[in-house]
Amino acid sequence: MNILVLGRGKTGSLVAEIAGQRRHHVRVAGAKENADASALLADKLHDVDAVIDFTAPHCVLANIEAGVTAGKNMIVGTTGWYKEIDRVRLLVERHNTGFLYAANFSIGVNLFFDVARAAAAALRHDYSGQIFERHHVHKKDAPSGTAIAIQRVIREAGGKNEDLEITSFREGEVVGFHEVVFESPSDRIYLSHDAKSRRGFAEGAVLAAEWLAGKKGFYDFKDIWREL
Ligand SMILES: NC(=O)c1ccc[n+]([C@@H]2O[C@H](COP(=O)([O-])OP(=O)(O)OC[C@H]3O[C@@H](n4cnc5c(N)ncnc54)[C@H](OP(=O)(O)O)[C@@H]3O)[C@@H](O)[C@H]2O)c1
Repeated sequence: MNILVLGRGKTGSLVAEIAGQRRHHVRVAGAKENADASALLADKLHDVDAVIDFTAPHCVLANIEAGVTAGKNMIVGTTGWYKEIDRVRLLVERHNTGFLYAANFSIGVNLFFDVARAAAAALRHDYSGQIFERHHVHKKDAPSGTAIAIQRVIREAGGKNEDLEITSFREGEVVGFHEVVFESPSDRIYLSHDAKSRRGFAEGAVLAAEWLAGKKGFYDFKDIWREL
């Protein structure tokens, strides 16, 4: 595939490296080459099969609008835009493109969502739940998109609009740590996931781009990762 990676940062660089190792042709556009989504003008995308976005919350919506309007399949790892998710879904349907997003592209975290979903049964008993997340000091959004996704999964499975407070910590170079604690008067349950490197996110995003090839529609990675 011809892949355009948006973002030369920590994750975008690794996505480009892994896509190259998997024999894709890769072009990368950072903040300078993509000011005001200028790398996504239709005439610059003729040979591009998929656009993978690992940029920042302030520009991701402009990137999505430009890429989808140009008719390109998009894989979006950038977080911090989910309040606009309904508008993006409509845009994708209107332009009949393929779109796949994830708050977290690592297989391990998606497995963790299933563990959290199963444990949400605790809320129907005498337990209350809390979510903790730790990330490096450079992270621009809080709480993390992954913590919000865990909260949503537990609320849906627990059948209650339970409070499920998220507490965020920003320290050092922590790649990504998420913990769910269920507490009852008699015990505590701890569930945690600790990312050791960004490689899991980057590999998942490249596999997601391969999965999306030739498909149309709006997809959440947590619903399709088992098909990879
Ligand atoms: N879904 C997942 O699995 C996952 C995993 C990791 C991270 N993330 C998310 O992905 C995003 C990026 O994370 P990161 O750790 O890689 O951050 P990062 O190291 O700060 O990289 C972001 C990069 O985006 C570039 N950028 C800013 N505006 C741009 C634009 N308009 N067009 C193209 N590039 C632009 C920045 O370039 P300059 O340095 O030149 O400004 C920077 O290099 C964050 O939202 C993070 O939460 C998601």
